[in-house]
Amino acid sequence: MTQPLLKWPGGKRQLLPHLRRFYPSSFNRYIEPFVGSGAVFFDLHASGRLRDHDVVLIDSNADLIGCYETVRDAPHAIADALERLAAAHAIDGDSHYLAVRNERFNPMRDRLRRADGGITYTPELAAMFIYLNRTGFNGLFRLNRRGEFNVPPGRYLRPRIADRERLARVAEALASTGVRLIWGGFERACEIAEHDDFVYFDPPYAPLTPTASFTSYTAACFDRDDQARLQKTVVGLARRGCYVLVSNSTADEIAELYEGCDVVRAAGLRTLRVAARRAINSNASRRGPVEEYLITNVTADSTYAQASQTS
Ligand SMILES: C[S@@+](CC[C@H](N)C(=O)[O-])C[C@H]1O[C@@H](n2cnc3c(N)ncnc32)[C@H](O)[C@@H]1O
Repeated sequence: MTQPLLKWPGGKRQLLPHLRRFYPSSFNRYIEPFVGSGAVFFDLHASGRLRDHDVVLIDSNADLIGCYETVRDAPHAIADALERLAAAHAIDGDSHYLAVRNERFNPMRDRLRRADGGITYTPELAAMFIYLNRTGFNGLFRLNRRGEFNVPPGRYLRPRIADRERLARVAEALASTGVRLIWGGFERACEIAEHDDFVYFDPPYAPLTPTASFTSYTAACFDRDDQARLQKTVVGLARRGCYVLVSNSTADEIAELYEGCDVVRAAGLRTLRVAARRAINSNASRRGPVEEYLITNVTADSTYAQASQTS
């Protein structure tokens, strides 16, 4: 079993039992335009369903993609660096976290930033990214106005920082023949996807309330216009004959875009509500069960638990 390497806001491990029902029984390429911690990619990989398939993993977070590329290419160097970070963290977690974040990670990110805005990750930088992710507050990745990572330390008693085996399994999955990583926007999927490809979209969720802030994954948010552009992309790919699966919140703006939309139905897409648990919310009282949308043109596999269809 390959588990994701990173904690990631909106990570889909908890939703996997619902999502698995909508993995097509056969497909050509697998494309995931908001890959984050890659819960669905690693699940598909672990089940053997990606064997002999080309895979395209896309995310607009340059650090995430830079880290994955380096994990793929240099897992042992990263594991060595993580062990050193874990040993120092065990002595004084909070002050070590802040020193790594302010004195090493941010300055090194700056030095390795390219003209195109991407960051040329090294094993040392990737190890710090993973360390800050596993020990920082709720696995958030947040940048301030100056583009510096500014997440405070998390509250973990014994965080699992260095896990050589998991790192090796993740590296092996990312190094599989045919797996491609792309730093870019979700629209890249339109340039790539063809008939019979399986495309899973897990965008930053539209907030259920004006104060909920699930959309702050990077400095730039994912707003209403982005959600509307995404809906057009999803409809376009369904029309093209791709297998499409989308997860999103049941916010009113998403209901309008999918549940109440004739164009979506005409493209053969159905909108279902499933019960989920929100793992990451700064407000503990909002961590209870919520409903989420799955939007898909894949026929459900009846061997998995039921979801309730709304349109
Ligand atoms: C809900 S998370 C995905 C979580 C993922 N399914 C998992 O299991 O961890 C959304 C991801 O979309 C990325 N993102 C935000 N805006 C984007 C855009 N316009 N195009 C592509 N990726 C984007 C974020 O960096 C984040 O990793």
